[in-house]
Amino acid sequence: MPAFPKPIHLSHHFIREALNAGDTVIDATLGNGHDALFLAKLVGERGVVFGFDVQKSAIQSSSELMQSSEISHDRYHFLHAGHEEMNGHVVDEVSVIMFNLGYLPNADKSVITTEDTTLLALEQSLGLLKVGGLVSIMCYPGHDGGDREADAVRKWCSELARENYRVAEYGLLNAPNNPPFLVLIEKTK
Ligand SMILES: C[S@@+](CC[C@H](N)C(=O)[O-])C[C@H]1O[C@@H](n2cnc3c(N)ncnc32)[C@H](O)[C@@H]1O
Repeated sequence: MPAFPKPIHLSHHFIREALNAGDTVIDATLGNGHDALFLAKLVGERGVVFGFDVQKSAIQSSSELMQSSEISHDRYHFLHAGHEEMNGHVVDEVSVIMFNLGYLPNADKSVITTEDTTLLALEQSLGLLKVGGLVSIMCYPGHDGGDREADAVRKWCSELARENYRVAEYGLLNAPNNPPFLVLIEKTK
């Protein structure tokens, strides 16, 4: 890894550390399914990936990516639903939950994640997360609305009880145009 990796690459590093083969994990923002495929390869043949997206096209393209990557159908459950509904769909404890906020590049840029539903989903994530598990949140403050959401996520995470959670933030301070940053939550108790 370079001295200062991109935030998303750093998130991959910590995710690899936090999960084991056979785990159940969640991609809270499926998009084109790249993060879900990354997770599916890590959890292996006994693991399961739940995925959420409000765009039907995201469910379609993510499913196609899994099929073309020969991930068997019983290893992923992609739901055309907001991540704020994850409690109604996931009952197992999970080791990793990935959020890649904002909009999907090369798609409808008016469909963005927003602080109201993102915070609801984060709240539910902590309930589903096993001790030692990780929530990874890529924030994109550079677009309209993304700044408000990023501020809300940072504030919410920074107020989590330190007895139960460790929270870290990482980003490049001198990159232009409100660069993306990563927030990581580890459940310790
Ligand atoms: C930056 S993209 C995700 C990229 C994706 N992880 C990938 O690997 O391609 C953000 C996605 O969040 C989705 N989204 C917006 N609001 C959502 C919500 N409430 N619940 C779940 N997904 C949502 C958008 O439709 C979009 O596909």
